[in-house]
Amino acid sequence: MVPSLFETSRLSRVVNIEDLRRAAKRRLPRAVFDYIDGGADAEVTLRENCRSFERLTFRPRGAVDAGTPDLRTTVLGAELALPFVLAPIGSSRLFHARAEEVAARAAGAAGTAYTLSTFSGCLLEDVRAATTGPVWYQLYLAGGRECATASIERARAAGYSALLVTIDTAVAGLRERDVRNGIAELLTRKPLRMAPYVAQFALRPAWLAGFFRDGGLMAFPNVVMPGKGPMLYADVGKALEQSMVTWQDLRWIRDIWDGPIVVKGVHTGEDARRAVAEGADAVVVSNHGGRQLDGVRASLDVLPEVVAAVNGRVEVLMDGGIRRGSDIVKAICLGARAVLVGRAYAYGLGAAGGPGVTRAVDILRADLVRTLKLLGCPAVSDLDASYLDRPRGVPHLPAGTGLRLTSG
Ligand SMILES: Cc1cc2nc3c(=O)[nH]c(=O)nc-3n(C[C@H](O)[C@H](O)[C@H](O)COP(=O)(O)O)c2cc1C
Repeated sequence: MVPSLFETSRLSRVVNIEDLRRAAKRRLPRAVFDYIDGGADAEVTLRENCRSFERLTFRPRGAVDAGTPDLRTTVLGAELALPFVLAPIGSSRLFHARAEEVAARAAGAAGTAYTLSTFSGCLLEDVRAATTGPVWYQLYLAGGRECATASIERARAAGYSALLVTIDTAVAGLRERDVRNGIAELLTRKPLRMAPYVAQFALRPAWLAGFFRDGGLMAFPNVVMPGKGPMLYADVGKALEQSMVTWQDLRWIRDIWDGPIVVKGVHTGEDARRAVAEGADAVVVSNHGGRQLDGVRASLDVLPEVVAAVNGRVEVLMDGGIRRGSDIVKAICLGARAVLVGRAYAYGLGAAGGPGVTRAVDILRADLVRTLKLLGCPAVSDLDASYLDRPRGVPHLPAGTGLRLTSG
């Protein structure tokens, strides 16, 4: 899809991810913007995810010519040009037309992977076909095992290279902004119940026109209920509650999927060890971007505990709060193989679709190059904790993590 002049000019003024966030806020109706931007309850964990990066400081090496830093890494046996992957973002198609396809295409063009949420509006086959890069399929068991088996079969046939199983969603978190914006009422499709909340859409005519051109409120074409067809938007909450993922399910998934499995939503060393025991090939330290259990530690603060617990047996990824390339560098210094970015690219989608995602990726890439040069580090693969000061605000750094922390 060719970007409009308006979209191109909007992006020309974007310097960092916060600018993209503001651009998304200007283009999207409040309910859609808040769905991306908000977190659970008092949003304490949402804020902490970002603040934890601010507390950690660098220990650079001066007078070192790092050349052109090498950003490549290997995740699950595949080489990626960048040490970050696009995280699963449900309902992306509300942000922009054919959003999952354009985001996957932008990731592939940048040489990295895209993760498709179970709750996406585009067919998983179309998303796979849209990109030259690897694609992972994020699995919820919404609709039950029969329904999930069909999606897994389709993902296998289409060429998805990994399954990412999210374990932190026993019930959807209370996103208070969504309640206030009338998301539940808007999904009823009953005019009287929707009426108090529809004005926000009239204020965003460009978004509204694009939304209707793209087919309006989508169902979820990759969650096909036997005998019923694709799951409807309004049914998601109940479906999640009825079919949360348990460790028994993970064992079952291991039996029917022979490719790599990534367990996302690990908050503790104990769960990381359990995931490894159940056959995970990688874990993602994640609190769902502060959208599930509010009051858990920031992902970055949990990372050393998980790195120590798995002790090199599987790859450790993390997400939550990444808004700059320097954040990615800090996570890698603490032992992450790579990171997932969520809102950083979702704001780009909301601001301008595919070109917005490309802008987000370009910003993070340029940040990474600059940060490595300023640290005096020639490659992402050379990063370790010696490039950090002792992380004063980072609790729970167990003895024997293998991280070489220098006192500063
Ligand atoms: C709007 C939105 C929708 C999300 N949908 C999903 C989803 O469908 N499945 C999932 O596993 N995680 C989902 N997540 C969580 C992200 O995959 C990721 O863990 C989180 O965004 C990372 O935090 P960050 O946004 O601060 O980078 C969603 C996050 C956002 C912001």
